[in-house]
Amino acid sequence: MIFELNDEQKAIKKMVREFTEKEIVPVARDLDDKEEYPFEIIKKLDELGLSNLAVPEEYGGPGVDSLSATIIIEELAFGCAGVATSAACNSLALYPLILGGSQKLKEKYLPFICNNGKFASFCLTEPNAGSDVGAVSTTAEKKGNEYIINGNKCFITSGSHADYYTVFAKTNKNDPKSLSAFMVEADLPGVVRGKKEIKMGIRASDTAEIIFEEVKIPSENLIGKEGDGFRLSMQTLDMARPTVGAIAVGLAQAAFEAAVSHAKERVQFGRPIAYNQGIQFILADMATEIEAARLLVYQASWLKDQKKPFSRQSAISKLYASDMAMRVTTNAVQVLGGYGYSREYMVEKYMRDAKIMQIYEGTNEIHRIVIANQILK
Ligand code: CAA
Repeated sequence: MIFELNDEQKAIKKMVREFTEKEIVPVARDLDDKEEYPFEIIKKLDELGLSNLAVPEEYGGPGVDSLSATIIIEELAFGCAGVATSAACNSLALYPLILGGSQKLKEKYLPFICNNGKFASFCLTEPNAGSDVGAVSTTAEKKGNEYIINGNKCFITSGSHADYYTVFAKTNKNDPKSLSAFMVEADLPGVVRGKKEIKMGIRASDTAEIIFEEVKIPSENLIGKEGDGFRLSMQTLDMARPTVGAIAVGLAQAAFEAAVSHAKERVQFGRPIAYNQGIQFILADMATEIEAARLLVYQASWLKDQKKPFSRQSAISKLYASDMAMRVTTNAVQVLGGYGYSREYMVEKYMRDAKIMQIYEGTNEIHRIVIANQILK
């Protein structure tokens, strides 16, 4: 087994860390305070070919392997988990099209989106369908050469400003398995951007409600066939979950480094607190858990690159990395004590940002179900 990144991946990691130090770290606190979407940063990532990471080169994407994409997102999350979430959003939204779309549909949308800095959102979750994907109640009714879409989606990443929505809707109201996926242009009549969520963390990421009222789309915008939607959503989430793991690892690394440097500088009882075993054990556990999570996340991405089954490892990596990030960031706040609880230091932000990792792209309870099903089947 080779645990070393190849030269290209090492170069990417170094370049993205430098980008993060220069472009993200200085503004992360401000973006969080103002709950502001990082348009400028995303534009710069676009210019560097570091966005739309899942899109193959032939369709205008950077064509990077999954492990490289994971490393890019991890390094962005070192600066801000909200920015990393924003940067990863197009991949999540466009993956159903990449996986299941006709050549014609891919050519219609992917190059234009990638070459023109457009935004796309993945519209699966609804007020009554989060963990239970089969409970989606948005409908797509076929009439002639069109589908008419009606329904409400919530917690949609980049929803407020997306140019395109990948919408999951039932093509047969009475059949829970009849979920289908559609490309929907945001400026069509009947597409309404609803309320923007005010969130605890990842505040540099936009989260909004989207309402579809009698939205007419050409029938060619169906991705794959009617009924492909459930499988496409599951396969997309399999791809995206190690990305959440990568964000968790990146932000935990930032919290860890802040805790180490504080422990070395903070003097109590006449010496830096790092001399106390109580602090040393916390730091040692942090380092151990971050390493373990990183290996799991890289392994899931590597399995995908090798075209081997990776659904189980995807769930395991997201589950472990997100729980790890919650523990590590909480302990970072503890090591910094009163300073850790103050907004003057970043660790309180890391702790707030970490919480969503256990919730989005499948709650950790759902991940335990997915893993248990695979063990017991
Ligand atoms: N790949 C391919 N096919 C899959 C699959 C996978 N990973 N998982 C399931 N399937 C198939 C099954 O084989 C089954 O096929 P058949 O009907 O042919 O037998 C079908 O899909 C249904 O599977 P289940 O019976 O297991 O389905 P279920 O209704 O019991 O649900 C679940 C399974 C794992 C709980 C699933 O609903 C799930 O993953 N839920 C969580 C959803 C989620 O992650 N939501 C977050 C939304 S996205 C988000 O957070 C966006 C954001 O912007 C951050």
